Order: sequence, then structure tokens, then C-alpha cells
Amino acid sequence: MLYMYCSERVYEENVHTTHHIQYITFFDKSSYCDYQQCASLKLKCYISSHGISRVGRLGKYTLQNIKSKEIINMTNTETAQNGGASALPGMEEQLENMRVSGDGAPSEEDEDIVNPWTVCGKSDAGIDYDKLIKRFGCEKITPELVERLERITGKPAHPLLKRGIFFSHRDLKFILDRKEAGKPFYLYTGRGPSSHAMHLGHLVPFMFTKWLQEAFDVPLVIQLTDDEKFLWKNLTVEEAQKCAVENAKDIIACGFDKEKTFIFADFSYIGQCPAFYQNIALISRSITFNQAKGCFGFGDSDCIGKIHFPSIEAAPCFATSFPHIFKKRKDIPCLIPCAIDQDPYFRMTRDVSPKLGFHKPALMHSSFFPALQGAKTKMSASDENSAIFLTDTANQIKKKINKYAFSGGQTTVEEHRALGGNCDVDISYQYLRFFYEDDEKLAQIKEDYTSGKLLTGELKAILIAELQKLVAEIQLRRATVTDGVVEEFMTPRALKYNF
Ligand code: TRP
Repeated sequence: MLYMYCSERVYEENVHTTHHIQYITFFDKSSYCDYQQCASLKLKCYISSHGISRVGRLGKYTLQNIKSKEIINMTNTETAQNGGASALPGMEEQLENMRVSGDGAPSEEDEDIVNPWTVCGKSDAGIDYDKLIKRFGCEKITPELVERLERITGKPAHPLLKRGIFFSHRDLKFILDRKEAGKPFYLYTGRGPSSHAMHLGHLVPFMFTKWLQEAFDVPLVIQLTDDEKFLWKNLTVEEAQKCAVENAKDIIACGFDKEKTFIFADFSYIGQCPAFYQNIALISRSITFNQAKGCFGFGDSDCIGKIHFPSIEAAPCFATSFPHIFKKRKDIPCLIPCAIDQDPYFRMTRDVSPKLGFHKPALMHSSFFPALQGAKTKMSASDENSAIFLTDTANQIKKKINKYAFSGGQTTVEEHRALGGNCDVDISYQYLRFFYEDDEKLAQIKEDYTSGKLLTGELKAILIAELQKLVAEIQLRRATVTDGVVEEFMTPRALKYNF
């Protein structure tokens, strides 16, 4: 049974404008616990997608500015039709707890904010991923599951998997079962091309996707959402398209196999492939405005392009969006490696898949790549000092890390020797977890830093050398990626698999 909760909140953006935000949310008993967190999140989403407040101050700013938050109606959908009202036991009280008291003090401690537009944790160690798994209703990637994956692929797990950076999944077991049974699936991932230069954080899902592609030997499709960035950022169509091509070069420089990989940018692919647009329309017909609001926190003053966009990110989950690769086959599911902030798109897709006759997409979620300033926020291309770009020189990398990388060490050498450093919050150590291959050496670094034997400057030096090497390798490979190579990857064509 579905339950419905309606609320209206009045939010003053400044003294002149007032927004009335209406939410109607449907949920069933199983998502009921998640719901409490969801409601305040949606308000934050709304505010952040309007660019009203800086992320760091969002919680406080929001709560202080809510003038009223009213539960207008709470009823289940069946009785709603008869005008009656009934609630889940304990519901009233739960909703009461969500209320914001009149003086603006938060009545619930601010939880981490994670959605496609904003990532902001409340603790220095970053996002509480265990809580997020519960809230989103996904599953933890357990050591047993990693072992099974190794067994099935015959390959040792990628460090990003072993170290729990890819930490959560949906239906990965289903994909592994298929692999064991010799049934096909494909990989789908993507990138919103908002800037010419990608940064280290953008690299993470692609490095992992490349490993998955090699381990499973399956087709891969990569969506470049130039339309998304056109809608969300202040870019012209041409600028967004240009960024897509530039980003495609960085992605290709990760080493993808042309025979197995199709890269497409929305603006041009929609014109090239009617089946893609047909799937977009099919999906968009299955999602109401209310559902999109509930999932993404859209508000009444968001342009309708944004509201429609989720169906465009959803469509590549269906094999029929790629007739040149899969012919007309509807029965081939995909596995999506992505950062967990993209999950709302695919939760929504999973909801509509069965009724449209498709498998639900499976997912593997990564945690975020933290900003240089600390794990509270993710690395962001729009904040230059928070990011190391793939275009940075060796010297720039060194300077940025020495100047900005948040340290978990002590203020003086004496104190550090006595007390040791805190690897959980130390950005240099955290980055090494992503990129340093040797497990044993990494464990040694952790031990030495924690005990105080290794100083912050020394730790930073290790990281600098590692990143200079990584970025230089990518730059070298990127220099060989010509416009012609990009075009080959982006031409709709059959891959080396027969369907
Ligand atoms: N919206 C994503 C971004 O802004 C891009 C994207 C499109 C994507 N499709 C995807 C990311 C699939 C992961 C998986 O970066």
C-alpha cells in the first residue's frame, strides 16, 4: 500500500520574495524510515538547486529562514479518494519531530546532504556512508561479495573495490549470477561536461569502469550530458558541446577499448538515434511531476527542462537505446558504476523499469573524492583551489597539495611525534587510498603516520610524487587522442560483441 504525505512550507528567499514549496510524497512502509530524513533533504535540495546559499552554511541558513512548515494532510491514497484520513502508527509523532521550531533552531541534527547537486557532510571525516546506505535503501558491498566477484572474473579486485571506495550496490548479485550463467549485460556510466578540464575526482569512476570492462569483457556506453550542463549551468549549447568533446578526450585517455566502448553526447545522439528519444519519451510518460519533485526536490520555479532531464539520464539503462549495439534486444540489463550522488536518477529508473518491460539497472556506488580542504565536501571543478585538474603541471600539483591539502597531523613536530596524525581526516592519506596501488606500502604509511613517525610534509611528498606520475601519464596519453579518435569512439556502430 502506498501512503501519501503532503506538506507546504513557506520559505523566504529574501525580504522581497517568498516561495511556497509544496511536496507530495508517496512512500510505502519499507521506505517509511527513510522518509523522515528525506523530507528535510528535499528542502535543502530545493534551496541548493536555486543557488541561494553556499553549501557549507546551508543547514543553518535553511532552518533559520523557514517561517512555517505545515503538515496539511496525511492520508493513505485509498482513503484519500474518499476524503478520509489515516496514518501509519507513530507517524504523527515522527512528523512532529521533523518540525522546525519557531526560533529557527534545528529540531533534528542536520544530516549529510547528498544529491546530484550538493554533497556536504557534517563531520570532518566526511559523509557517513553506512547511514547513507540505510537512507537510500541500497546494500553494502561485503568482503564476501568482493571475493565472489574475484572468483567469477578470475581477477584480483581493483584497489578501489578492495578498499571500500566502491562501497555499496544494487542488484550486483543479479549481475554476477548472469555472468556465471553466461548471460550478457553491459556497463553504463557518464559525465556531465561542465568544464574543459576534468579533475582527479572525475577520474575515479572511469578508472574503475575500465577495470570492470576488462574483468567482465562487456560493452560499455558512456553518456556525456551536454544538455544537462546546458540546463544547469550558464553555458551555451556550443560551449557545452565543446566541453563534451574535451572531456571525451580525458575519458579516452583512461585507456578504454574502442572495440568495446561507445561514447555519446546527448545533443547529437538524440538526433542520430530515434530509438534513444523514444525511450526517453517512454520513461518520461511514466514519471509524474510529483514523483520527480519527491526524488529530486525540484521546485515550482525550476525550468521544465530540468524536470524532464532525469528521463534522459535514465534512457541509457535500457539496451534498446543502442540498436547499433544490441539490435532490438530488451532483455540485456546494465550495471552502472557511479558516485552515490547519482543514485536518485537510477532509483527512479528502477521504479519504472518493470512496468516498461526492462530489467532494473544494477549499480555500484563510490564514495566521493574529497576536496583538498577536507572530506566535508567533494572535489569540485567550480572551486579551483579544491581541485587538482588533469591539466595541472607537476609544479601546480605540488603547490596545491602543500598549500591546501587538509592535514590530520599535529601543529608542531614535537606534538606530531608524540601524538601522531589522524589518517581519517588527512586528505593526503585519503588521496593515497584512491591512487596508491601497493597495499602493503599503504598500510605502512598509515601505521607510520598514525604513530607520528611520518610527518605531514613527508606524507605530502609521497602523495605529490604519486599524483605527478598519474597526471603525467594521462597527459601523455591524452596528447595522442585526436579529434579523429574522439569521432571514432562517438560514432554509433556495432561493437565487437554479437547480439
Ligand atoms: N549526471 C552526471 C554528472 O553530472 C552524468 C551522468 C550521466 C552519469 N549518466 C550517468 C554519471 C551515468 C554516472 C552514471 O556527472
